[in-house]
Amino acid sequence: MSAPLDPKKKQLSVGEVADRCGVAVSTLHFYERKGLIASQRNAVNQRRYTRDVLRRVAVIRTAQRVGVPLAEIGAALATLPDSRTPNAVDWARLSQIWRRDLDARIAHLVELREQLDGCIGCGCLSLAACPLRNPDDVLGQRGSGAQRLSPEPE
Ligand code: FES
Repeated sequence: MSAPLDPKKKQLSVGEVADRCGVAVSTLHFYERKGLIASQRNAVNQRRYTRDVLRRVAVIRTAQRVGVPLAEIGAALATLPDSRTPNAVDWARLSQIWRRDLDARIAHLVELREQLDGCIGCGCLSLAACPLRNPDDVLGQRGSGAQRLSPEPE
């Protein structure tokens, strides 16, 4: 991800990155193990980060805050040329995608809440009637009885 250390540029230690990003050192180590950020080792084998890691961590934290799984964040970052840190255009594109995902999750949660409203005061937990107990009842649509023992429809 990163170019060789340039001795003329200031490199950041893991503690400096943690302080500036407001995250724990262990979080940075975790991100690094997941391939979301990268460091290089200096002459005494300490991690050193280039300054662009600050923006990269900001993108990761912001995406996590809206519920984007780390695997998706990593996949999105991996689409950037040369694994560069997202610039403003990249961020606009990624946040638009994540906004759609967030909208879909919200719609799903609203649907679940409405189904739960129907369960309040009911208590049947019926496989036939309760949408939360048995959502998308595919087998039930084939009729009563031991549907799993029947041959698969062609
Ligand atoms: S508990 Fe009766 S419909 Fe869900």
